[in-house]
Amino acid sequence: MTTPTAENPLRSLEEWDDFVGSRYAPGKANEQFRNYETADAGVREFYRQNHAFQTLDFARAKKAEYGALRKRRMGIWQAAEFLNTLVDESDPDTDLSQLEHLLQTSEAIRAEGHPRWMVLTGFIHDLGKILCLFDEPQWAVVGDTFPVGCAWSDQIVFHDFFAANPDAKVPGYQTLHGVYEPHCGLDQVTMSWGHDEYLYGAVKDYLPEPALYMIRYHSFYPAHRHGAYRHLMTPHDEKMFESVVKFNPFDLYSKGAGRPDVKAVKPYYEDLIAEFFPAELQW
Ligand SMILES: [Fe+2]
Ligand SMILES: [Fe+2]
Repeated sequence: MTTPTAENPLRSLEEWDDFVGSRYAPGKANEQFRNYETADAGVREFYRQNHAFQTLDFARAKKAEYGALRKRRMGIWQAAEFLNTLVDESDPDTDLSQLEHLLQTSEAIRAEGHPRWMVLTGFIHDLGKILCLFDEPQWAVVGDTFPVGCAWSDQIVFHDFFAANPDAKVPGYQTLHGVYEPHCGLDQVTMSWGHDEYLYGAVKDYLPEPALYMIRYHSFYPAHRHGAYRHLMTPHDEKMFESVVKFNPFDLYSKGAGRPDVKAVKPYYEDLIAEFFPAELQW
């Protein structure tokens, strides 16, 4: 765990993942969704920053910067090992490393006999969190994602914090469709910046379309859990969101599974990676 700071209020990125997992714990009624009183102060502060700072201009600028893929050149396994350097002081008894979370997700998908591309998607889905290693603050790496440049859905967690976002004062961004056309398609929509969009940009040439939707929208909880933003989606987006919905439980609920034996499964993943990816790619 890292020590929380004003800029990075979460003890680790998993604190956000755990908060999402608790919101959607199996058996928990939907009405309980709005009750965040139990959220830790660090989590609240994290959302305060995320909602105050994720503007359309910010998301466009980061997409341009990172979308150029000029940060690094490395293979997929190498990127997973690089991400693994993020949790440097974690408690080995209670916290899973980043690599272990990836493997738990992918092994759960594999155990249910899903196609190889989906196993691979589970393995890579959080690699975009390497943004943290490029010194991006937590609020620009994780958090539920949402479209920017149009009205924020009231299905977004901690919606009240948007009052402090400069876009709240831009009337053109506060209508239902904002800068977008009705049903323009999510590909035309700028999402709040984070690890989903970054990884999508890095891997988009190599994986089948449902895999790309799983990667690009796995943190888009307002849409895949609450059905929001259908007014920006095409029928094709809706169809593809079936994949996003299918993927989500593996991300949220595979944590209870046993600790993966990294050494034992590595050869399987090396083969799987080589089936879809070149030895190195641009990040
Ligand atoms: Fe994620
Ligand atoms: Fe994840």
